Amino acid sequence: MKLGILNGGGDCAGLNAVTRAVVRKSEQFGYENVGIRHGWQGLLELDTVPLNWSDVSHIINQGGTILHTTRTNPFNRKNGPETVLENARKLGLDALIAVGGEDTLSVAAKLSKMGLKVVGVPKTIDNDIVSTDMTFGFDSAVNVTVDAIDRIQTTGESHDRIMVVEVMGRDAGWIAAYAGLASGANLVLVPEEPFDLNIMAGFLKQRHAKGATASIVVVGEGCRLKDYPASNSKEVDEFGHGRLGGIGEALARELEKRAGIETRAVVLGHVVRGGPPSAYDRILATRLAVTAVQCVKEGVFGVMVCVRGNSISKVPLESIIGKMKTLDQETLSLIKDFNA
Ligand code: F6P
Repeated sequence: MKLGILNGGGDCAGLNAVTRAVVRKSEQFGYENVGIRHGWQGLLELDTVPLNWSDVSHIINQGGTILHTTRTNPFNRKNGPETVLENARKLGLDALIAVGGEDTLSVAAKLSKMGLKVVGVPKTIDNDIVSTDMTFGFDSAVNVTVDAIDRIQTTGESHDRIMVVEVMGRDAGWIAAYAGLASGANLVLVPEEPFDLNIMAGFLKQRHAKGATASIVVVGEGCRLKDYPASNSKEVDEFGHGRLGGIGEALARELEKRAGIETRAVVLGHVVRGGPPSAYDRILATRLAVTAVQCVKEGVFGVMVCVRGNSISKVPLESIIGKMKTLDQETLSLIKDFNA
């Protein structure tokens, strides 16, 4: 049995933990492993690397991905899907484990329908994949964000400023919500809920009038300000996503003007995607990888392994296509309760 593994989409902490666990578990079954480099591009261009036990030593604690990743979409390329299938045959792959977000796993779902024997493993710092309670990468990203906000808090207090902290998360506010709640931020703004600039500015003005020395405003990159485009970039990736960013600076300018309080913006961006995975993410990545290899052993393909409660389970890959897990009501109401 020859097993391929690839990572697609934005990197996140925990990808190497998956690679390690896939290789180690599948070697217990006597399988051969091959790493596909640079996501689906590696299957279009036959860019691979053999992987064995020692190749994955001491990578469980490493950020990024030793396999590298891209946002390549084979369905966007001439004969892309056919080339992927043909190259999988050329490589002698009996099965593929695709580790990615909704884009990568949607490609996997479509290729599965075309005959590729594939198992999906969900990953993303954004935590926005449906049918799984959690994605690895998210916990690490939240921890780094909280650490950054703790530091931003003290400099904000020294200068009596409003500090606007922009975080990633596309159109789902999970990082903003969890990091904002865990750091005791004063305002958490998420793409799921519209907000009124004047109400926010009035609220912050009042806080400072009552003696607050700093206000932390956490804003998700996918939030929109009326009359201010969140991104000036017209660039879209192969899945049609525009590059986000810019809301923090625009918001800081507006709040400073309307509240009359000195304001600074910090964009955390890729800082929180890099670096070592948290212990939680290492374990989650390992559990998902082991279940993915079990699926291969049992001949169960076209599924995504996932976490439900505290159990690892699986769902049909096609069930996640075109969907996004946005913030639930409980989290939205927690944010409201603690916006103070
Ligand atoms: O999808 C994960 C993500 O980190 C988003 O939160 C963010 O908008 C995007 O990737 C950034 O992608 P890139 O690294 O290609 O700029």
